[in-house]
Amino acid sequence: MDIFSKIDRNMGPLGKYATQGHGYFMFPKLEGDISNKMVFRGKEMLVWSLNNYIGLANHPEVRKADAEAASLYGMAYPMGARMMSGQTDYHEQLERELATFEKKEDAYLLNFGYQGMVSVIDTLVDRNDVVVYDSESHACILDGMRLHFGKRFVFPHNDMANLRKQLERATKIVEKSGGGILVITEGVFGMSGDLGKIDEIAALKKEFRFRLLVDDAHGFGTMGETGAGVTEHLGVMDETDLYFGTFAKAMAGIGGFIAGDHKVIHYLRYNMRSQIFAKSLPMPMVVGALKRLELLRNKPELRTKLWEVVNALQSGLKAQGFNLGNTESPVTPVFLSGEVPEATNLTFDLRENYNIFCSIVTYPVVPKGVILIRLIPTAVHTLEDVEYTIKAFSDIKKNLDAGKYATGEIVDVMSQ
Ligand SMILES: Cc1ncc(COP(=O)(O)O)c(C=O)c1O
Repeated sequence: MDIFSKIDRNMGPLGKYATQGHGYFMFPKLEGDISNKMVFRGKEMLVWSLNNYIGLANHPEVRKADAEAASLYGMAYPMGARMMSGQTDYHEQLERELATFEKKEDAYLLNFGYQGMVSVIDTLVDRNDVVVYDSESHACILDGMRLHFGKRFVFPHNDMANLRKQLERATKIVEKSGGGILVITEGVFGMSGDLGKIDEIAALKKEFRFRLLVDDAHGFGTMGETGAGVTEHLGVMDETDLYFGTFAKAMAGIGGFIAGDHKVIHYLRYNMRSQIFAKSLPMPMVVGALKRLELLRNKPELRTKLWEVVNALQSGLKAQGFNLGNTESPVTPVFLSGEVPEATNLTFDLRENYNIFCSIVTYPVVPKGVILIRLIPTAVHTLEDVEYTIKAFSDIKKNLDAGKYATGEIVDVMSQ
């Protein structure tokens, strides 16, 4: 059989919707400067979909640093992997500054957050070790686990009683195998906005022997007094053995880092396959990340503005009776009831009639009958944006409850 023939039968869970949704729901093009308003299919939209949390994407100082670094170094420099020929003072400086910010001894840059996390897990554990992880872990954590030859145990999302059971099971296994236990969770869970119970997990270290790896992609730069993340927010920076952050969200760049004790980070530096066998981050990304980190640290007013918008949006939506789940972070999920066709019509309505662009998640990512609209407030949104959105959401909720989206009263723009 031709290896490609199965594609005719099955385009995959999202690909099967490509014929109806490509360019609208999937792979939409947002044009213009990255901000609260951007252009979608020729119309200006209020955008609630970008992780540009503290507004650095289009910050004049960031744009200047990016442009100057690109002009000075080009996008090629340095050539080769860090270990072979791609090392620079700037890469090392960024690592030192990230480590200091996270109150760790050392940090190591990752070319991509996703691949970096996969490779961190792969490098840390061998067949004798056991990984214990939260059931709502991001795909990069699950993919890291796919490379793990040893046992892995999952605990239901934030279920501490079950985590204890998994740790008991894991402990029995490593007592025989001579391996160790790695617990992995997230700081902010990116879909629901709730926090990993890192403080409670850390407290279990009194009873069980394990190391803790926290993926804080959405918490870095948004949570904690200085923006150092959820570990700072919960007061468990020391208890978190390895802290993972990405540059793709609050830092509005690309790449990421892992921070921890020097011994462990240096081991990763010398053993992480995704870094050893891949080209170093280009200089403009590194110099640009230094500028972003400087602003993130020295301009707390950006985070204050973010939280002003977050609080207004979340309290306003709650006051209108919306269910936002258990979010404690800027991630703002709005849970509605309805089937996929209703979600589709509701999205058309929001985009075409209210000029609001936000991301909608339906089955199979959330249970059948649930529509999850995920809003990402940022420091570049205004309180007027918030007010307008709350009003629009009240309207669409009325329409949804009245069954208007189910009957297709709303026009299907894709078929026009
Ligand atoms: C929890 C979490 N971890 C890791 C990543 C991957 O980060 P990056 O976009 O830097 O590859 C993401 C991005 O969506 C994420 O949400």
